[in-house]
Order: sequence, then structure tokens, then C-alpha cells
Amino acid sequence: MRGRFVAFEGGEGCGKSTQARKLVEALQGAGLTALHTREPGGTPGAEAIRTLLLEPPGAGWGMEAEALLFAAARADHVACHIRPALERGDWVVSDRFLDSSRAYQGAAGRMGDAAIRTLHTIGSRDLLPDLTLVLDVDDATVSRRLGLRDGGASDAIGGRNAAYHQAVNAAFREFAGAEGERFAVISGTGSIDAVHDRVWQAVSPLLDRHRA
Ligand code: TMP
Repeated sequence: MRGRFVAFEGGEGCGKSTQARKLVEALQGAGLTALHTREPGGTPGAEAIRTLLLEPPGAGWGMEAEALLFAAARADHVACHIRPALERGDWVVSDRFLDSSRAYQGAAGRMGDAAIRTLHTIGSRDLLPDLTLVLDVDDATVSRRLGLRDGGASDAIGGRNAAYHQAVNAAFREFAGAEGERFAVISGTGSIDAVHDRVWQAVSPLLDRHRA
């Protein structure tokens, strides 16, 4: 039986990395083989591309090159890690996937959704998660968490201006509204355990279908 693929999405500091880890632990606790991975990254090649993207050499990348590098990292991640795991019947939980490219490069970066989708068709044969969880957090909470996480220092993309990040967050909400069956928007406000309970509820139908 094919495994299930769950992706966490959201803007900077929304808490998705913590929640991805908690979900993997819960799935493993339920007796499932669940792999925790991230984008950009997840394979040695994609992790090398991650460094190029977040700590760019020289003056940085233009938006087209940036989108292509994300798509290249994803192609390697999908071919070498995600598809083989799903084919073995394992669960895969990824901290970010295609919808980050749609939000950051397609919407906020103005590449357009069609271009990002085309790159995904070429790179990853249109693989989509079974469920995409968007963690939605208010601006004040995000600023506080980011201050705690990296003391205000950011990478090349996290450090873009507020308008860029507002466009990213608006895009995630729009995607979730347009494709209700693939997305669940989870309030990221409250304790880690309270958010995890909401995540677990959203994942439960997938668990039932997996066991059926
Ligand atoms: P992270 O902070 O969640 O590890 O993600 C790294 C950064 O890369 C974050 O600022 C979001 C950005 N990103 C994109 O711009 N496009 C993408 O496709 C992905 C996966 C991440």
C-alpha cells in the first residue's frame, strides 16, 4: 500500500518545524514508519542547493534562477527520497513543499503560479501531498518567535521585507481556500501541544483511510 504524504506550510516563524517533528513522533507512536524531511533539502544534493539559496554567493539570485533552484532541489528530493518512501508504504512528513514555491516565488516573487507549476511538472511529475497543513499565526506572535529563534538575523529569503512576507501569507490562505480538499488551515496560536492536537485531528481521516 502506498504511504501517505503530509506537508507543513506557512510563513516564517509559524511553528511548522516543531509541529512536523511532533507529528512524526505521533505517527511513529501509532506504529507507523514515518520519515521527517524538509525543503529545500532532504537529500545531500538538495541540502547543498539549500545552502546556495539561503546563503547565496555574490549578489544573490534573480527570481527565475531562485525558482529553478528550488525546483531542482525538489526534483532530487522527490526522486531519491519521497517517492521511494511512499512506494515502500512509509509516511513522509515534509517541512515545506511545492506550495512554498507557489507562495514565495510564484505569488510574492511574481513569477506566477503557472510557471511554478510547469517547473514542478518537469522536475517532479506533479507529485502533490495527500494533505497540506497551513499553520496560520498572527503577526505579533511571529515577530516574537523569530526574535527568539534567530535574534533578528535572517537568511536571504527570511530577511525580505514585510510586504513580501504578507504576500506569502496571503497566498497560503488563498491556496487553502481554492483547494479545500488538499489543505487544512490550522491555527498556530496557543501551546505546542494545543496546536499538535489540531494537527492530529486534521491528519486522522488520512490515518483511517490508510488503515481501511
Ligand atoms: P525554512 O526556514 O522553513 O527552513 O525555509 C527556508 C526558506 O526558504 C524560507 O524562507 C522559505 C523559503 N522557501 C522558498 O522561498 N521557496 C520554497 O519552495 C521553499 C521550499 C522554501
